[in-house]
Amino acid sequence: MKKTENQMLVIFGASGDLTARKLVPALFNLFAASQLPKNFIVLGASRSDMTDAAFRKKVVLESNYLKEKIVDKTDAEIEEFANKFFYEDLGNNYDTDYSRLRKRVEDLNNKYHTSGNIMYYLSTPPTLYEPIAKNLAEAGLNTQKNGWKRLIVEKPFGYSLETGKALNAGLQKYFSEKQIYRIDHYLGKETVQNLLVTRFANSIFEPLWNRNYIHHVEITNAESVGVEKRGGYYDKSGALRDMFQNHLLQIVSLIVMEPPIGDQPEEIRNEKVKALKSLRIMRDDKTLHDNTIRGQYMASKINGKKVKGYREEDGVDKDSTTETYAAIKFFVDNWRWKDVPFYVRTAKRMPTKVTEVVIHFKTPHHQIFKESGLNEKDNKLVIRIQPDEGILMKFGVKVPGQGFKVERANLDFYYSSLAETHVMEAYERLLLDAMQGDATLYARADEVEAAWEFVDPILEYWKNGKDVRMYGYAAGVWGPENGDELIEGIGYWRNPGSNLADDPGYCVIC
Ligand code: BG6
Repeated sequence: MKKTENQMLVIFGASGDLTARKLVPALFNLFAASQLPKNFIVLGASRSDMTDAAFRKKVVLESNYLKEKIVDKTDAEIEEFANKFFYEDLGNNYDTDYSRLRKRVEDLNNKYHTSGNIMYYLSTPPTLYEPIAKNLAEAGLNTQKNGWKRLIVEKPFGYSLETGKALNAGLQKYFSEKQIYRIDHYLGKETVQNLLVTRFANSIFEPLWNRNYIHHVEITNAESVGVEKRGGYYDKSGALRDMFQNHLLQIVSLIVMEPPIGDQPEEIRNEKVKALKSLRIMRDDKTLHDNTIRGQYMASKINGKKVKGYREEDGVDKDSTTETYAAIKFFVDNWRWKDVPFYVRTAKRMPTKVTEVVIHFKTPHHQIFKESGLNEKDNKLVIRIQPDEGILMKFGVKVPGQGFKVERANLDFYYSSLAETHVMEAYERLLLDAMQGDATLYARADEVEAAWEFVDPILEYWKNGKDVRMYGYAAGVWGPENGDELIEGIGYWRNPGSNLADDPGYCVIC
């Protein structure tokens, strides 16, 4: 096990939802698994006026997000965890002089022996990233002379290529790229990391992982929820920025990348950047028109309950043209993937919550069995990211009896069968990695920019292009009616169910 050095975690935006919902539960899991270093404290910093005690109450002692986790812990254990938390009020503005913060950090560091190592976690709107980095630098809180300093930032990493670049340049004025950790919680998912292992620790898949054997690749990311309470944010973002530019292109990069030389962070990240740079950027209106579909969910009834349409959600413009469904077809211009189409879609208010990758293999070159519709039974590798995590291989078997009738059979692996293993939650894993200085699962500046390069023309076309349509779909169905048109000549999307082995078309909407 790698060693985690003594350190302090300073969370900006600590009174916000993410801290209580994700960060503190992740820290609690690390605490319960004895993964926190001997000397470790958390300093919450934000604009609310709170004492240490009030902060502990809010994020630990009375937090709904921790209730289930602490239920079987003793009072002494809960107190030990809660006592690691401190709070500093930054006043009205994050863009202020941080000398008081610095004094607090120094005092805590001296008292709790955190070795001068500090991880800053920016859980604030991105517009504050650069001002916070600047103020930290001006207060001398970025210097590594007396312990390392790292900066974790949350998505969105920009709003476009231009703003993404500006954000990177802004942060790099005060922190070196090696100190910056851009969190993409999909990379913290075991199943996403397992894409690397599936490909590079097995000799049965990699020889087939190319244009000679793969017909097309399909990725579905569906959520059954709508925009919930985040209408204000989402309406300025949309599915492409919210999910595709980051989480889904990260998955794409892991599928597309070449084998890295080794498992060191830079080796893996270099290959991922190369993969992202090889995505064919769509530039002209016709290509963009033919290869992208956007949609918005409309009011409907699910389980007998009326659900709002997107434009009726709180914080959403009544005439909004923000997409809640995005489906993109694209190609990868390199030796391995030439002419293999990739189909990727993401949406809110679909029949179920699921993320899966399907590798569709080609029909055997020479068909011996002449049964019609045999290509429906071609080999597929279904890699289920969530839920019911696992891998499913579909292959043809002979139906017992005369002649050669082929049926499709499943060979499956479920993560849940690894009962002994504690599967870390995404934030738990990512926080621990950053605490140990391992950036493998964090996005590097050039990765983020390469992803924006690909996404920018689509966003621009959707905003200003000719013949751009916004298709409606009833909340609770698999997207707009014409969603399958994108897969023209191939068929239709595999609409996964809530279980790995459910067959296409499965859905529960009432
Ligand atoms: C977030 C998006 O990054 O990912 C949300 O902002 C989305 O809109 C969420 O709901 C999905 O994450 P997960 O882990 O539930 O698939």
